[in-house]
Amino acid sequence: DNILIIHGPNLNLLGVREPEVYGGATLQDINRNLSELVENTEFKLDFFQSNAESALIERIQLTMNDGTSFIIINPAAYTHTSIAMRDAIAAVKLPFIEVHLSNIYSRESFRQHSYFSDLAIGVISGLGAKGYELALKYAMTY
Ligand code: DQA
Repeated sequence: DNILIIHGPNLNLLGVREPEVYGGATLQDINRNLSELVENTEFKLDFFQSNAESALIERIQLTMNDGTSFIIINPAAYTHTSIAMRDAIAAVKLPFIEVHLSNIYSRESFRQHSYFSDLAIGVISGLGAKGYELALKYAMTY
């Protein structure tokens, strides 16, 4: 079973970017932790980060042919803007969990709408890096 972890724009800056909002862990820390969780299981992880909407859409489209069975995605700022990414994830019809490090409902009003949540199996928002871990544990039992 292949699980794809997608990180949207600016998440490559985790650790240095507003750590009071997003925490001190880097993206490498988060990915390493997730990799450890699937050691000695039948699950394989694939990681993808991009700052470009087109690259994210193309990666989502690839799941039609690459054996991915589940997606964990933090669309970052595209959460609130990208109908095109929403359409891509709807097209591939894979189950997914939407993760946000911060609690988007406790922040600016423009962050309080997501183009993904109504399509997601579930949403984790505000639990920091731990949210990815919880999402992965769920995906492994799905
Ligand atoms: C985020 C929340 C978004 O509003 C923001 O644009 C991000 C990160 C989060 O993980 O809390 O880049 O998705």
